[in-house]
Amino acid sequence: MLDAASIVRRFLDTKLQVHPDVVRYLSEKGDPSLIDQILGDIPPDAVVVSPRHIPGMVPTVRDGARFLTDPQVEVVWGSAGSTGGVSSLENYSRFFRHRYDTLGGIIRGRMNGIPIEAVLKNSRYRQEEASIIGMVAEVRTSAKGHRMIDLEDTTGTIPVLFNKNREGFSEAEKILPDEVIGVRGKLSQEGKLFFAESLVRPDIPNSNAPFTSHEPGKAVLISDIHVGSNTFLPEAWERFAAWLEGSDVSYLLIAGDAVDGIGIYPGQESELVIPNIFDQYDMLGDMMSALPSHIRIILGPGNHDVVRGAEPQPCIPEQFRSHFPHNCTFVENPAFVRLQGVGVLMYHGRSIDDMVASIQGASYERAGDMMEEMAKRRLLAASYGKRTPIAAHEQDRLLIDPIPEVLHTGHVHVMGLTSYRGVLCINAGTWQSQTAFQKQMNLVPTPARAVLLDLQTLRPEVLDFS
Ligand SMILES: [Fe+2]
Ligand SMILES: [Fe+2]
Repeated sequence: MLDAASIVRRFLDTKLQVHPDVVRYLSEKGDPSLIDQILGDIPPDAVVVSPRHIPGMVPTVRDGARFLTDPQVEVVWGSAGSTGGVSSLENYSRFFRHRYDTLGGIIRGRMNGIPIEAVLKNSRYRQEEASIIGMVAEVRTSAKGHRMIDLEDTTGTIPVLFNKNREGFSEAEKILPDEVIGVRGKLSQEGKLFFAESLVRPDIPNSNAPFTSHEPGKAVLISDIHVGSNTFLPEAWERFAAWLEGSDVSYLLIAGDAVDGIGIYPGQESELVIPNIFDQYDMLGDMMSALPSHIRIILGPGNHDVVRGAEPQPCIPEQFRSHFPHNCTFVENPAFVRLQGVGVLMYHGRSIDDMVASIQGASYERAGDMMEEMAKRRLLAASYGKRTPIAAHEQDRLLIDPIPEVLHTGHVHVMGLTSYRGVLCINAGTWQSQTAFQKQMNLVPTPARAVLLDLQTLRPEVLDFS
């Protein structure tokens, strides 16, 4: 081993600064002649010795002309401190109003909605077709198996019937409470019930064309590391870290449950190898510090993290960050980030629990399908008051707006990859083997996967470190 201070001094003597990765590499190699080699080969105009100056470590440059740019990260929303507490009932009405206005506005661009009150009052809609746009207040199934909902706008509420024998009924079957939809149909003769002909969701438009980066750049998407759990896989993580060391990755995104946390479920103590929450984050911070420091790490929380469970979840607080490197950016859950202009919506994915419980045929093994359902509704979490706790702020921060190039989730521990109307949906799996609870639930996780994303082509590649 060479000691870090003498490496830095050696370069400073020749008026050169040195990148921490180079210091680490040289100190691990312990070979002083490497320093002489670097000094001999370094271009005269160099100011900083970076990893590419290490002999044999020059990153391969594809087609001879493309160079990696400096990481460019913009947190569009979900940066530290943007979420606050919920103080009054008024927040709830503003929250739902914001959701209705935004998603209703998108639907209005595709159909002309008539206020529900006007439809109920005007007998012409018993003969003529009308379109209404509203938020789903309640969902039920009629005795004959038709889907019944109460649809509400700012002027009134109307019961809507989706006939099970009509085309498109399978979409109506998936209607979730609190989503915003448009319905075309006719009023019944007695004027109290609306017979639906068709259903319109705010959905991603068919014409959606994702942005791609002009410069080369690669991101890796992961989630659910669960540091502190006895089922966390340290060897797999080490393989991943070693791979990152030699890669040309500029961004690492982590979509929550980075630590296992404490008190998350009954009896968790017996499954923890690190029973202290501060120690869990210190360990995670050390793991992040060991990664190449040029990689920009973006870390959001999940339901196992130390922050409140209600979404949007705030960032991991300061007092847990002492071991984290400077290249780590803490964001909220959800958060919208742009990497070289490519929009990534990071969401832990707790609402998948609710969708699996409410949508027929939905399963944890098909997380990609659930992400499609989010995209169709333009909502990360549709239903209020179910398993996903939602903090109703003045604005609904669980909207999918703007449309991201990539939707990145985790939580279910099963890798899922799909593309829906130009939105790449990635559920990044986990770094934890099957837990006792998952065994009981018959859920087989896909651990130690990372998704490598080329920002120029938006082509994903699944890397398996298991
Ligand atoms: Fe998890
Ligand atoms: Fe989770």
